[in-house]
Amino acid sequence: MAVVHSVLLLWTLTVLVVLHSVQLSRAQAHHRNWNEAQLPKCKKLLTRKEWRTLTQSEKAEWVKAVKCLASIRHERLSFAKDHTVLEGKRSLYDDFSYTHALVEHSAHRNAYFLPWHRWFTHLFDTSLRETCGYSGPTPYWDWSRDHKDLFHSPIFEDSHEYGLGRNGDPELDCAVTTGAFASFELAWPIPHTLRRNLTLLTGWYPHELPQNRTLTPEYVRNATEQTTGDFFRFQGHMALLHNHVHNFVGGDLAGSCPQAIPEDHCNGMADSFTPNDPLFWLHHAQLDRLWNEWQRRDPSNFAAFSGMPLVAQDMSDPSYDVDANADHMMPFDIRSVSVPPKAVFDTEAWPLCYRYADEETPVLE
Ligand SMILES: *[C@@H]1O[C@H](CO)[C@@H](O)[C@H](O)[C@H]1NC(C)=O
Ligand SMILES: *[C@@H]1O[C@H](CO)[C@@H](O)[C@H](O)[C@H]1NC(C)=O
Ligand SMILES: *[C@@H]1O[C@H](CO)[C@@H](O)[C@H](O)[C@H]1NC(C)=O
Repeated sequence: MAVVHSVLLLWTLTVLVVLHSVQLSRAQAHHRNWNEAQLPKCKKLLTRKEWRTLTQSEKAEWVKAVKCLASIRHERLSFAKDHTVLEGKRSLYDDFSYTHALVEHSAHRNAYFLPWHRWFTHLFDTSLRETCGYSGPTPYWDWSRDHKDLFHSPIFEDSHEYGLGRNGDPELDCAVTTGAFASFELAWPIPHTLRRNLTLLTGWYPHELPQNRTLTPEYVRNATEQTTGDFFRFQGHMALLHNHVHNFVGGDLAGSCPQAIPEDHCNGMADSFTPNDPLFWLHHAQLDRLWNEWQRRDPSNFAAFSGMPLVAQDMSDPSYDVDANADHMMPFDIRSVSVPPKAVFDTEAWPLCYRYADEETPVLE
């Protein structure tokens, strides 16, 4: 009982810190059930928009807010359980990479992948707004619009003010030297600047499909239409698209180690620091948008959540989690409130309170 109580107390305190703009009574905060009838209502819905539909000044504002988080130094790692003070210049931005790494195993290759990242992306968005005064739309990158020529996607723009930058320079360990994030300083896994290494094939796997065959409107449509009621299979497709964008962009987004780290020290180390590239947030908002669309396509999708396959002969797949449960509290870090998947099913309800702007569906050939 004491444990439950302190969890609730921590939960309450953190909600008040993270989402202090939301008026929340003690009684409401102590409700253990995420029962719609008892939750506060959204005061307004924030809007999420495709990056290329933002105006230049909206893009510039978003870039400025990200750089603002990255300019706020704080030495103590709030995410570490023991509050360890670590050496070096670290920023509030770096904390997101760190927490992603800290709970890596709880957030990937399992049933919690989509709900965990929905909440994580929301926490980042909330930080931009509450700490750095951002008030514009939350951007996502619909990469399927660019499948014909991913290398020349308009996401990769030069502008120092609003551009996310182009590919890295192979002579400089793939450091990004263009756009607003040129020489963007990062702390993890060692201090370095943002890197990208665009590629269609990583050469890591046999029979690898080039990314321009998977990141397509047709693949997305199939994944959405052919998985009705089956969260496990839908999420499997999202995980593949997720990996393909990380791997296509390469460098920090693919978790490749900076050259300064000896190869044999690198194994599995950089993997988890993928939020180093601000593209991380636009990519995860896109996956979140696809999940949201899938949820609203069919009533059996909305609250579908499962680590279980529908097809019994697939039970040998080690990624199935027979205990996956929409009430399970997903682990985050000590600064962030922990939530169960069912608390984030409805993006248009408290505590999320956002919607995706209608987008014209790209024409399929
Ligand atoms: C960039 O990616 C290519 C594969 O497309 C690889 O051969 C090369 O080593 C990578 N460069 C760096 C600096 O990681
Ligand atoms: C993918 O890109 C390669 C290299 O540019 C090209 O040869 C191939 O036709 C593309 N495939 C698709 C399906 O667009
Ligand atoms: C989409 O589904 C159709 C029908 O099953 C199939 O013929 C097609 O190859 C699929 N396309 C992709 C990209 O998976």
